[in-house]
Amino acid sequence: MGPSVTPDAMQIAINHDGDIVAARQKGRELAARVGFAGSDLTIIATAISEIARNIVVYAKRGEVTLGIEERGGKRGIVVIARDSGPGIPDIALAMRDGYSTANSLGLGLPGARRLMDEFEIVSKVGEGTIITMRKWK
Ligand SMILES: Nc1ncnc2c1ncn2[C@@H]1O[C@H](COP(=O)(O)OP(=O)(O)O)[C@@H](O)[C@H]1O
Ligand SMILES: [Mg+2]
Repeated sequence: MGPSVTPDAMQIAINHDGDIVAARQKGRELAARVGFAGSDLTIIATAISEIARNIVVYAKRGEVTLGIEERGGKRGIVVIARDSGPGIPDIALAMRDGYSTANSLGLGLPGARRLMDEFEIVSKVGEGTIITMRKWK
């Protein structure tokens, strides 16, 4: 059987900076319910804030969905970030450390990938971006 999302899933609209903090906090709470503790909570919250920040900066608005998943007897947190912004023309390039079209650090996407267990980007120029990431307990 494939992964199943439990009814704990929640959606957070991302429209401005304050929503990044909200997504970070909700992610932390949900991760704690999965059983994560200590630095894992900070790791998950940091990955969520990076992709939520990218929504605000590059797409202006979007949403983050947080859920608890079960797969193969394991529980984990799943984070799905969606926007209808400009999309990412070259995902491999965007995933490189230090690559930024905004003259910022260029560590958000590669950093989030390193912090989480699974990381996937689907993006189409002119249509938007969906990032799905998971961390298993
Ligand atoms: N949601 C998004 N929509 C469009 N482009 C994005 C999105 N997220 C990231 N990008 C692109 O990927 C690049 C790398 O992102 P990131 O690693 O977070 O670094 P930074 O935000 O510091 O530039 C960004 O500069 C931007 O060009
Ligand atoms: Mg970024």
